[in-house]
Amino acid sequence: MTQAETLPRLDHLAARYALVRQVAMEAARRGMTYYQQREQLHVEHKGAVPQDVVSIADRELEVFIKARLAEQFPEDGFVGEEGGAAGLQARCVWVVDPIDGTSCFVNGLHTWCVSIGLLVDGQPWLGAVADANHNELFHACRGLGAYVNDTPIRVSPAADIRYGVTGVGTSHRRGKEHFIPFLTGLLEGGGMFIRNGSGALMIAYVAAGRLVGYYETHINSWDCAAGLVLVSEAGGRCSDFLRGDGLLGGNPLLVASAQVYPQLAELIGPSLEA
Ligand code: IPD
Ligand code: CA
Ligand code: CA
Repeated sequence: MTQAETLPRLDHLAARYALVRQVAMEAARRGMTYYQQREQLHVEHKGAVPQDVVSIADRELEVFIKARLAEQFPEDGFVGEEGGAAGLQARCVWVVDPIDGTSCFVNGLHTWCVSIGLLVDGQPWLGAVADANHNELFHACRGLGAYVNDTPIRVSPAADIRYGVTGVGTSHRRGKEHFIPFLTGLLEGGGMFIRNGSGALMIAYVAAGRLVGYYETHINSWDCAAGLVLVSEAGGRCSDFLRGDGLLGGNPLLVASAQVYPQLAELIGPSLEA
């Protein structure tokens, strides 16, 4: 199949790809200005879920991103962590986390990023993850490969969890019984884990071959819509995250190199696709 045949018949996909890279970087730079003055931010605890925090930085960045995308593509739909969903009947739907790693952001840890994905006809198609602390923009378009800045990226060549580090994520949205047995199995199998507080960034690290895989017990679409494109385009494998109500309600997620994926999936068990 040629590359042209794999692309949807849609005008302005290249323009959307250019725009998502630009807007993600602009938003990340704005985020950095807030980050440098973070002592002045009023941090709120969201709803009933422990550890779920938000500040004006998250809200204002989402408004900024939404407006910049809508300037050029007013017909597109939008799902954002802070402002909710609109226009989901559109062929193109942007899925945005203005700051992924908010807890890190407000506590002065450098692992936070801006994540913007685009679904076309319900399929992950474009993604940009911008990390202003390290001047890294991870980006991908279906059929065109994955990159960090201008450099192509590939998933890790490691053939076993013993030969690399696995990213993990969990939250109080889903019970620890979905997490602790996985960690035990990972360690018993000679693997090692890392959790840096930003799921979007760790998924990008899988695409870049820095981590052999990433498992999260429950993740939201705004955390991983961009990452799904990055990992697929970097030669990796992703669980069927968008099944059921994945877009609005989230799901468990596993992404990994194709070689390591079955090993991690076995450690998680049937709850991954349940
Ligand atoms: C969270 C981070 C965290 C992950 C959670 C997310 P937020 O996003 O990605 O690493 O474990 O599932 O909710 O709240 O920092 O945008
Ligand atoms: Ca997030
Ligand atoms: Ca967020």
